[in-house]
Amino acid sequence: MKSLLVLTAATAALAQQQTANCSLPSTYRWTSTGVLAEPKSGWVSLKDFTTVPYEDGHLVYATNHDAGSSWGSMNFGVIKDWSDLGKAPQKKMNSAAVAPSLFYFAPKKIWVLAYQWGPSPFSYRTSSNPTDANGWGSAQTLFSGSITGSSTGVIDQAVIGDGKNMYLFFCGDNGKIYRASMPYDRFPGNFGSTYQTILSDTTNNLFEAVQVYRVRGQEQYLMIVEAIGSQGRYFRSFTASTLDGAWTVQAGREPAFAGKANTGVTWTNDISHGELIRVSADETMTVDACRLQLLYQGRSPSSGGDYGKLPYRPGLLTLQR
Ligand SMILES: *[C@@H]1O[C@H](CO)[C@@H](O)[C@H](O)[C@H]1NC(C)=O
Repeated sequence: MKSLLVLTAATAALAQQQTANCSLPSTYRWTSTGVLAEPKSGWVSLKDFTTVPYEDGHLVYATNHDAGSSWGSMNFGVIKDWSDLGKAPQKKMNSAAVAPSLFYFAPKKIWVLAYQWGPSPFSYRTSSNPTDANGWGSAQTLFSGSITGSSTGVIDQAVIGDGKNMYLFFCGDNGKIYRASMPYDRFPGNFGSTYQTILSDTTNNLFEAVQVYRVRGQEQYLMIVEAIGSQGRYFRSFTASTLDGAWTVQAGREPAFAGKANTGVTWTNDISHGELIRVSADETMTVDACRLQLLYQGRSPSSGGDYGKLPYRPGLLTLQR
């Protein structure tokens, strides 16, 4: 048994060494699926997806909105393939974790779900079984600061670690991206109330839904930020060589990283809040630039009215290389 385990580990290490590592393309072209899942009865939208590789499949959490006035959160459990998302059970979380970010904090072997609109500006809960929508511990403070010049306040956290420090990136629907940090040994914990404003532009150019990833095999980090364009929502991208460093715009002009015009999508004008598919669940938030995929939210171009009731649905983009 032991030799089998050693052999398996050696094979895995070899496979890792032989894995090609791509750099990010300078121009992005994607294909899209159609709508991957409809909300279950009583709900009108599924939004703000976060997903990690789990066993041989994908574990997905999301925000939902009901037919009344309530935001909530849910999970789809573990699906084998993206085409299974529409058949997956939609399990309501009894205590909402809106706009969730899911990852495994490897140094302490604990799952973390970070979110907004909890008891503090950003909150988190931990679990040893992330597949259980209601297996999370009590809400803890992730961030206790506040921003000015924003009608929403802090919104849409992204958490990532570089092996030494954990970073919290967030938005304010106001043309700014903010960053806080703490050493690994204090995580999971409160980033506190201090932060830096690391990007500043028009409200439309830096709106919300920031996500930050490490590009596997490169000394490079990728940030995507949702923007408001002439055709709908789209993502712009930025890169940096360190998480505490300066960010340079990478694909900045609509359709930039991902928007209607470079995806061929027809069921939605918006490529909005979601997550790149990661290579592992850990806090390094690593993505494979050879095979980029984005789980995003879109909605029928003919929809409108009450923001909470906009009929957002999941779709998946696959980068064409
Ligand atoms: C790809 O990157 C991984 C992680 O940085 C590294 O272990 C691996 O050796 C790289 N593969 C190649 C072919 O360079």
